[in-house]
Amino acid sequence: MNLEDKDNANDDKENINDKNIKKICVIGLGYIGLPTASMLANYGYDVVGVDIDRDRLESIKDGKLKINEPGLVTLVKGAINSGNLKVKREPEEADAYIICVPTPVTWEENNPKCDLSYIYSAIDNIKPYLRDGKLLIIESTIPPKTTEKIFKYLNKKIYMAYCPERVLPGNILKELVENDRIIGGIDKKSAKLAKEIYSSFVEGNIYLTNPTTAEMVKLMENTYRDVNIALANEFAKICNDLDVNVYDAINLANKHPRVNILNPGPGVGGHCISVDPWFMVEISNNAELIRTARNINDNMPKYVCDLIINEFKRMNISNPKISIFGVAYKGNVEDTRESPGKKIIKYLISKGFNVSIYDPYVKTFDYPLNDLEDCASNSDGILVLTDHEKFKRFKERDVLNIYNLMRNKIVVDTKNILNHNLWKKVGFKVKLLGDGTSWREK
Ligand SMILES: NC(=O)c1ccc[n+]([C@@H]2O[C@H](COP(=O)([O-])OP(=O)(O)OC[C@H]3O[C@@H](n4cnc5c(N)ncnc54)[C@H](O)[C@@H]3O)[C@@H](O)[C@H]2O)c1
Repeated sequence: MNLEDKDNANDDKENINDKNIKKICVIGLGYIGLPTASMLANYGYDVVGVDIDRDRLESIKDGKLKINEPGLVTLVKGAINSGNLKVKREPEEADAYIICVPTPVTWEENNPKCDLSYIYSAIDNIKPYLRDGKLLIIESTIPPKTTEKIFKYLNKKIYMAYCPERVLPGNILKELVENDRIIGGIDKKSAKLAKEIYSSFVEGNIYLTNPTTAEMVKLMENTYRDVNIALANEFAKICNDLDVNVYDAINLANKHPRVNILNPGPGVGGHCISVDPWFMVEISNNAELIRTARNINDNMPKYVCDLIINEFKRMNISNPKISIFGVAYKGNVEDTRESPGKKIIKYLISKGFNVSIYDPYVKTFDYPLNDLEDCASNSDGILVLTDHEKFKRFKERDVLNIYNLMRNKIVVDTKNILNHNLWKKVGFKVKLLGDGTSWREK
């Protein structure tokens, strides 16, 4: 049901004037909550940003953010300096509350389950302030029916809506403003109140619907990407067994007017695409393709490791050292959550590899990070896992420098981002995930 379909002149009896909401409390100041809170503050709302993480609050006050997102420091500083954004540990009285806390996946006897504990903890914290007529918005990604369950759990005469976030990390501020938005209100007035908030800064269209449809929409978007990446990964594995370059094949297949195949890679990471499809598996026995796609993508790190292990065996390399280039889950960001690099490093270490890591975008990681020279020094091979711009822009002198530092000269590109002709010219053996010919070249 589209709530706008029900719109008619009589509904305006409820007439929501322009300024129902003046003060907003945003709970959870991470990748989603902080830009949202800052944006609202810059658009004139009185905003209280709440987070349980003291370090995060201090870094926001100091303007030294842990999140490396283009334009965010300026946006946050503007919001704080205007006096419209205050950040603190505890919520306070407001007209509306927006929940942006994590919703990771947990496992119960091999069954995936959305961990709603952060959501309920945030809800319980604001419960005393949720009096009649207040608006509660959930932005965190949640399984269908969760908004309804929370509404029943609260058992209060509040307005409530589910408004999923669909921004792309690395381009958050632009997409926050320009993307279309879905609002699932538990009733029409809830949807309209939520729309009032978002229409202050959203330039895209805002579509109103019910919460379960909105919850489903968010999961469908990320599942669509996950399933299509799994298909591209399967194509890459098949091409690895043939003398076909999967990128040439995808490029030609995409000349078909109704085909748009995505690119393969070493696995799927991040907080969304590698997590959210499991919520479909959680709620339905019919999510067979979705489960299979998740498993295909989750197994890609092992597939990549096996390619390297076999190649090193073929080359008779003992005590191998491998240099990992890129551990962020995607190009040009510092976010390593669920990154395939973590699984690959763990697996290669368990197989006796000495692993060194270089990622010019990442500041903190589960394993020690090296500079480029230390990472390449005495290495037997480079494994490129992330499509960082910096890797694309390596010049001949950079590649030559890396070549001279290494013991064996092999580079494995899982993202098809290096200038292969340049690396070959310098003297490297270049292996490409999805190009069988490259793996059979001596
Ligand atoms: N990151 C993305 O690109 C993205 C995109 C769309 C949707 N989402 C969804 O948005 C939600 C938030 O994601 P994120 O990437 O911003 O997470 P995040 O981990 O970057 O930030 C979450 C913040 O919430 C805080 N927090 C946890 N429990 C709290 C509580 N009870 N009270 C107050 N603060 C609390 C944490 O300290 C943290 O700072 C998730 O459901 C995620 O799936 C994320």
